[in-house]
Amino acid sequence: MPDFNQTNAELLARSMSAVWHPCSQMKRYERFPLLPVARGSGVWLYDYEGKEYLDAVSSWWVNLFGHCNPRINAALRDQLERLEHVMLAGFTHEPVVQLSERLSALAPNGLGHCFYASDGASATEIALKMSAHHWRNSGKPDKTQFISLENSYHGETLGALSVTDVALFRDAYGALIREHATVPSPDWRKADAGENAESFALRCSDALERHLQQHHSRIAAFIIEPLVQGAAGMAMYHSAYLRRARQLCSEYGVHLIADEIAVGMGRTGTMFACEQASAHRHPGLADSGGSERGITPDFLCLSKGITGGYLPLSVVMTRDEIYLSFYADEIARGFLHSHSYTGNPLACRAALATLDIFEQDRVLSANQEKTAYLNEVALPLREHGSVRNWRNVGMIWAFEVDAPQRDFAQRCFTCALDKGLLLRPIGNTVYFMPPYVISREEIGMLVNRTLEVIELSAK
Ligand SMILES: Cc1ncc(COP(=O)(O)O)c(C=O)c1O
Repeated sequence: MPDFNQTNAELLARSMSAVWHPCSQMKRYERFPLLPVARGSGVWLYDYEGKEYLDAVSSWWVNLFGHCNPRINAALRDQLERLEHVMLAGFTHEPVVQLSERLSALAPNGLGHCFYASDGASATEIALKMSAHHWRNSGKPDKTQFISLENSYHGETLGALSVTDVALFRDAYGALIREHATVPSPDWRKADAGENAESFALRCSDALERHLQQHHSRIAAFIIEPLVQGAAGMAMYHSAYLRRARQLCSEYGVHLIADEIAVGMGRTGTMFACEQASAHRHPGLADSGGSERGITPDFLCLSKGITGGYLPLSVVMTRDEIYLSFYADEIARGFLHSHSYTGNPLACRAALATLDIFEQDRVLSANQEKTAYLNEVALPLREHGSVRNWRNVGMIWAFEVDAPQRDFAQRCFTCALDKGLLLRPIGNTVYFMPPYVISREEIGMLVNRTLEVIELSAK
């Protein structure tokens, strides 16, 4: 039985001697200790001494409906009494079937089959492999290259890292990774003076077109984080880019992989970010593919929030035509990829409970009000002298902080913890990605505490 009656210091010492923590230089924890978390409730996390922290980053962007959500807990308890796990090769079960049916009904048209894995990076691997394998099955075995945006992030297993453009994560493994090209990111912070986000996005899409013109015969797919490049520092861009990318990929016979691992499940204000690239938003591009409901990618990758932040689950949804290119008498034409926990019933059940909450609580429209409220109360923060590039899409907010010190991210993180706030800046970018259950009062606390933190850490 785990020991729930210990001090912060005791758990810290045990963790340092037994656990290798992710995305960490372990030695830094000598100066900046880990945060021991004893329990969670709603947007709050509590340490062993009862101190509370507002989880403004949804525990790495996964939590949607709060920690220890009673409805998800109840669904999991029920599922535990029925079936905890069964392998999905050769077997099936109600939660995975129902989840696939419901996701297909929600997602852009034609994404009729769901392939499951556990984490985001494994969804990326699957989409890349499926894309190249589809071309092989279709008599185009030379289409094995991928392209991604500058500063892209699609995960850290070797295949995913090959389409991830973050030097800090890639460089040590350069020799192990296949090189793929990147194209300019439509991140509007890079627009010229006087150029708006939409014109800049379209200018960047011209660079994509030039690349596709030259190399399309070798390219299997273009992988993209729709609307927001999270790890790049919540870089946001105009949806016209997505629409044009869809059009160009169709024209040049290249798959479009929408990595909605971070931005799917309502995070950008619509269930899927791809929905925002709809025809009526871009009258000039009305004939360019896609529909009123937005664009349909060839592959849609989901993870993180899909289980409400409870259990590792990812899914790659695929267009029917691609699925059918694998459907044959010959075994080797099939997609033989697998993971032991593929389609785990508990994780699928958490995902079903998550979808129930979306429906029952009309979450997307409730979030619109929360977004407007936060933007309103954040005015003093937006206008703070050290704050630049305030931006917002759905339930994601970000801004840069002008700070003289190089270690702003660490100072800000530590200072926020002191104030009972979990922020995790990316360089000088501070962002909010709170659980959707955040109340008005908690939004007020988030904004006020952040203002205090910026005052102290930007000195
Ligand atoms: C857009 C995107 N893709 C893929 C991943 C990788 O997901 P995971 O960390 O679950 O492997 C992430 C993680 O942050 C992400 O933001």
